[in-house]
Amino acid sequence: MNNFINSAKKVLLSNKKNGYTLPTNNKLYPAQWNWDSGFIALGYSHFKLKYALDELKTLIKGQWRDGMIPHILFHDLNTNYYPNHSVWACGNKIHSSGITQPPILAIIIKLIFDKYKIKKEKAEFKKIIKGVLKYHKWFIKFRDPNNSGLVSILHPWESGYDNSPLWDYSMSKVKIPKNLKYKRGDNKVVNPEYRPLDIDYDRYVTIKNHLKKNNYNPNKLFKASLFNVVDVGFNSIFLRANKDLVKLLKMFDLKSNEIETYISRSEKKIVKLYNKKNNSFINIDLKNKKKITIPSITHYFILFADLRDKKLNNKIIKNLKKHSNKEKYFFSSIKSDHRKFEEKRYWRGPVWINCNWIIYQGLKNKDIKFANQIKKKTINLVKQKGFNEYFSCKTGKGFGATNFSWTASLFLDLIFENKYEQL
Ligand code: DGY
Repeated sequence: MNNFINSAKKVLLSNKKNGYTLPTNNKLYPAQWNWDSGFIALGYSHFKLKYALDELKTLIKGQWRDGMIPHILFHDLNTNYYPNHSVWACGNKIHSSGITQPPILAIIIKLIFDKYKIKKEKAEFKKIIKGVLKYHKWFIKFRDPNNSGLVSILHPWESGYDNSPLWDYSMSKVKIPKNLKYKRGDNKVVNPEYRPLDIDYDRYVTIKNHLKKNNYNPNKLFKASLFNVVDVGFNSIFLRANKDLVKLLKMFDLKSNEIETYISRSEKKIVKLYNKKNNSFINIDLKNKKKITIPSITHYFILFADLRDKKLNNKIIKNLKKHSNKEKYFFSSIKSDHRKFEEKRYWRGPVWINCNWIIYQGLKNKDIKFANQIKKKTINLVKQKGFNEYFSCKTGKGFGATNFSWTASLFLDLIFENKYEQL
């Protein structure tokens, strides 16, 4: 095991730059990504708390004045990534993208606090937590202006599961202008069979251009964006993050009432996304007023939100057991017998370690036997196949980037979660 642990640490350390860490060492993602950074910080916390702290501090440094923490921070301006800093043309102290990503930071910080006695770094953490509070308030104000209890994403990139079939219907409504010009770089670095299609990129770019045309103005964009979806997985993460944030705020004697009120609203509302008739969760496309039913593994992030409804939780767990039961490796990002499932293409089928990790965390206090099975399978998959970005649920073959930071980080976390002293 020690070999694997050392290799995981090596992945992180070799992707490390000054104050932040790349998602991978190849040319695919040459910047700092928001939720990658959260997972990466957790991995570092097991052997070098300072690096975890640096990762989080750098992210907060890139926070916009309105509170948004961007999905990408461009520290290195000289890369072939598309869309790069000059295309987005925005940012506060650091060049950035103009959208956000799943808000996992509060969850990660809470986990770090649960494991270690944080003493001398307390003041630095307090500053970060204040930044995270501002971020959550931004979500509530601008991504749920009607105060419904559920927040919207305005671009598929915000979900992190970019080309999931969850977005197919909404994306089909985005009209691509005839004169659209851009040059993607990702499919020159990774086999195009494993990446989103050109038509997906045409639409990503169209939505992005439209956001830019509106000066990324959050007051306007909830209504104006070409894409506006309430996603179960994203809202589950936000709900869990709000719960963890409240605990952190209390630890630091900071005010938590706005967040607590929002949690009650979300708890009531998120269960409404469960469709009793089909025994499944649905997403709501607010732009096109349409309910979307796709068997995505991200719907099971609801377990991570720790709902108090035990009966519903049990139903969800029963469904989860059926999600990938036919496959050797789990969890496939889309149920493998669904017509939209694709074995190799990014978020349309492959197994992702962060999804397994999130679901494992959500199951620990509900079905420990199943949770441990997931943990063991996930650790073994990485040990057998390596620190890949994603994997086939049929053969375990790795796809996308190699030396993928969050795979290494979460592998370390699964192994060390119960060890209280730092290595
Ligand atoms: C990419 O470049 O593929 C990212 O997922 C966008 O955030």
